[in-house]
Amino acid sequence: MVMLGHSLRFSNAYVARKKRHQIPAFAALREEFSSIYDRGRRHDYAAYTTEWWEGEAEKLEAAFLPVPPTDFLQNPSLRWAMVSDNAHTFAAELPELERAYDTEHLLAVLEEDIVGAPILGLAKYHTTLNSVHHAYHTHRFIDATGCDPRDVDSVVEWGGGYGSLAKIFLRWAQRPVTYTIIDIPLMSAVQWLYLSCVLGPEQVTFVDSLDTPIEEGKVNILPVGLAEERAPDAELMISTWALGESSKRAYELVLERNWFGADRLFLGYADSDELFPDGGVVGEMAKARGATLHQIEFLPWCHYAFL
Ligand SMILES: C[S@@+](CC[C@H](N)C(=O)[O-])C[C@H]1O[C@@H](n2cnc3c(N)ncnc32)[C@H](O)[C@@H]1O
Repeated sequence: MVMLGHSLRFSNAYVARKKRHQIPAFAALREEFSSIYDRGRRHDYAAYTTEWWEGEAEKLEAAFLPVPPTDFLQNPSLRWAMVSDNAHTFAAELPELERAYDTEHLLAVLEEDIVGAPILGLAKYHTTLNSVHHAYHTHRFIDATGCDPRDVDSVVEWGGGYGSLAKIFLRWAQRPVTYTIIDIPLMSAVQWLYLSCVLGPEQVTFVDSLDTPIEEGKVNILPVGLAEERAPDAELMISTWALGESSKRAYELVLERNWFGADRLFLGYADSDELFPDGGVVGEMAKARGATLHQIEFLPWCHYAFL
């Protein structure tokens, strides 16, 4: 039944009750977080990462070991890098989503989870501004390319944050997708934890050796140190504000692997700046592959590249 929210107090109680099974799952799974992280970092990934992300990983490691706190989505480093709470962005994104989709679809895609204690900001759909942001990226990709997530069998995502865009894409697809997320080991462990709690542990595989199979119809978490030897081909490659924050070697790998065989690209990136002087190269690479570049009107230094 469709249950629209009317106050954040109600939405917090609604989500807490509906998703209460995630609390014992998190309590059990977080005990495995440090061993998952150790398994991921056994594979050297220094060539792919940047100094800035190494610093962020150190801060996250200090906060998330031995076990991530219950409110890990409120960690300041994590929030700064991968949680949008920008009212200006939200004011542009929500009306466009409401113009394009009905209430039932938006509720199904946007309703938040309780694990990690996200801060809800939109009562109507019981959700966060970050989920609206990720749904908006997905909408722009669909609108520009005509590619429907329900027709996609396999995805490789480079730099998946805590797993929010993957979750939203899978809800949109409404069916199993072979979805592989490549990231630095600390964030791979976070994705493993978050998505195992949200989707169920049986839906998530941690790929930590050359022999671990990529499981069809599941989320496969792949630490970037294994990406060169282990990454599968996929129909669609997604990377939002992530490839542009990786090293030049990471760009080379993506080109050597011909975008992991993808004939569809769903990319978001920022212009080059002091922190990531090569960030804008993502757009040039994607354009050379045939993608169309779109400036994001309300974030003028940011762009999508869609194919
Ligand atoms: C700014 S966050 C964006 C997260 C998410 N894509 C989003 O749009 O919210 C950058 C992401 O790229 C990941 N990342 C950084 N360096 C990476 C690397 N060398 N290889 C793969 N992922 C990397 C970070 O861990 C993080 O998940």
